Amino acid sequence: MEIERIFSNNRKWIAEKLSADCEYFKKLSVGQNPEYLYIGCSDSRVTAEELMGVQPGDVFVHRNIANMVPNTDLSSMSVINYAVSHLKVKHVIVCGHYYCNGVKAAMQSADLGILNPWLRNIRDVYRIHKTELDSIIDEEEKYKRLVELNVQEQCINIIKTPDAQKAYKLRGVKVHGWVFDVRSGKLIDLKIDFNKILENIMEIYRII
Ligand code: CO
Repeated sequence: MEIERIFSNNRKWIAEKLSADCEYFKKLSVGQNPEYLYIGCSDSRVTAEELMGVQPGDVFVHRNIANMVPNTDLSSMSVINYAVSHLKVKHVIVCGHYYCNGVKAAMQSADLGILNPWLRNIRDVYRIHKTELDSIIDEEEKYKRLVELNVQEQCINIIKTPDAQKAYKLRGVKVHGWVFDVRSGKLIDLKIDFNKILENIMEIYRII
């Protein structure tokens, strides 16, 4: 796509929004009060707002390679802090996607330079769930299951943060694990049993 096309698309979009509501941008400029924090993959096929059918102002979004929440990553930690403790979102979503190249790369032996430490976190997910993953013979199924387990582990990483623990205690903030299936367009709720996981892990990770 030509760069100029993007700017003409923008002008068209402004006109559409204003024709439906002439105060649209004035209202947007007042502030944001999103109920959701969405953490997803940077993959160009997984467009957060479009796949959820939401509008500007509805969702606070953070995207990185393979929807990771590493505890030492200043970017994702800042996003969680701001969304949970300041914007006071009600739901935190980690959304992975099948056919994620980041997850695929972590299943292979290759030196990817700066990506090594980032993707190492996914290798750790594999190690934690090695017994289950090794029992899956079909490579594609194994790859898809690692995508799901990675979402689950990143949800647990969120629960490890004091921001999420405080918000859970005070406001009952919920953490959700989803997967977007690129092949069908379907959004799948993994229905992760957080009460069970919390019971198991809070003994170790409780901060507050
Ligand atoms: Co991806």
